Amino acid sequence: MKGIREEIERVLIAPQEIAERVRLLGAEIARDYRSGAAKDPYGRPLLVVGILKGAIPFLADLIRAIDLPLEYDFMSVSSYRNGTSPGEVRILKDLDRSIAKRDVLIVEDIVDTGNTLDHILRLFRARSPASLRVCTLIDKPVRREVDVEVHYVGFTIPEDVFVVGYGLDYAELYRNLPFIGVLRREIYEEARVEDR
Ligand code: IMP
Repeated sequence: MKGIREEIERVLIAPQEIAERVRLLGAEIARDYRSGAAKDPYGRPLLVVGILKGAIPFLADLIRAIDLPLEYDFMSVSSYRNGTSPGEVRILKDLDRSIAKRDVLIVEDIVDTGNTLDHILRLFRARSPASLRVCTLIDKPVRREVDVEVHYVGFTIPEDVFVVGYGLDYAELYRNLPFIGVLRREIYEEARVEDR
């Protein structure tokens, strides 16, 4: 079996850059929740919610950079990209517990058109959390279709490129790359030919 690195055209964000940015994000989040962002009337710990599967490596590193009591949980949704229409997001795995009156921080891998996050935010708001914020590893604002509020952004990618690694996939692969990179064009094209 051949390695996956040779299928990457270029590295956009190196592991050290990711680590440094995650450390800063964690410090910023801890500072914010210590000084006013927390609204839970019972003072319960921050609840960090990872959106499966792309947010896993990011969430694992981020929570260790947040010096606050916290709990974490996961939700899995099928976005319109996987066969559903843009108008719907189906819950494949729901949260284990209620988020009513809790301080919730959603952790996402990437916000592209904004449709998936918009639907997730509607689902969460309907459950009456005390506060709701979003942290995304990557923001790709050039393709935005829906205006969504994202409080914490790891990296903004100014061009329209498809990125993989550090949780981000193409056809479920490349999530285990330690960097964020651009996939070689031939990989998509080969797949398109096979789809025919
Ligand atoms: P959105 O609904 O268009 O914002 O897309 C959100 C989802 O599309 C993300 O959670 C990813 O699963 C996927 N996605 C969008 N852009 C990329 C990319 O560049 N690489 C990998 N996945 C992506």
